[in-house]
Amino acid sequence: MMRQQIAAANWKMNLTYAQAEDLLDNLLQDSHTFQPHQSVVLAVPFPYLSLAKSKVTGKANFFVAAQNCYTQKSGAYTGETSAEMLQSMGIEFVIIGHSERREYFNETNAILAEKVNMALTYSLTPIFCCGEPLQIREAGTQNSYVAAQLEESLFQLSVEQLKKIVIAYEPIWAIGTGKTATADQAQEMHAHLRKTLADQYGQDVADTISILYGGSVKGSNAKDIFSRPDVDGGLVGGASLVAADFGQIIDALK
Ligand code: 13P
Repeated sequence: MMRQQIAAANWKMNLTYAQAEDLLDNLLQDSHTFQPHQSVVLAVPFPYLSLAKSKVTGKANFFVAAQNCYTQKSGAYTGETSAEMLQSMGIEFVIIGHSERREYFNETNAILAEKVNMALTYSLTPIFCCGEPLQIREAGTQNSYVAAQLEESLFQLSVEQLKKIVIAYEPIWAIGTGKTATADQAQEMHAHLRKTLADQYGQDVADTISILYGGSVKGSNAKDIFSRPDVDGGLVGGASLVAADFGQIIDALK
């Protein structure tokens, strides 16, 4: 079985409404030849979810994601967005635990476990982000650091639930820095993540989980990174804001 290969765009907090509409139109007008195991996921800001959803309707292989959701089902949580709201508007994916959420909004592994649970309750596919800061990489302890992120936020899941997760490995030192991990560094960590999953859930289950790489993925390096056996696509920030660049990344999927 070929694992799902995914080119995911994370727009973060960028673009006006008009710019978002232009980018969606440009992205969707290019014709890409997709195989059934290939998908494009567009994680747009909350106010543009409806727009993105209506634009991708009828486009097989294109899906829309939110960039976050809250831990609670509903209630007096001003400014928050629930998984149920996302489900109710036909959103299929949600990014959980991006390093920017961990850093600027104090999201801990325990909070992220609640968010993963909530997303799955409402049939959203979590794109669960993990990754180490530079000082951890320099100390050489990235493997245990990242394994702990999986253990503390995902290992409460049953086998059936875990199979619905997508993982994104995003080393923080490579995000928005232009300094991408080498394809070898990505492969090495992805293999480690898959082994961590295999030790807990079994190799057969681990082999079904898509693991995306994120951090300065560009049109020029995507093919090399995606070619590695445990790299199942990318989660792309800056380069996803330019239709031609992201188009090249889509075409780099295996
Ligand atoms: P860049 O592609 O801009 O480095 O961002 C990566 C990222 O954080 C995607 O979620």
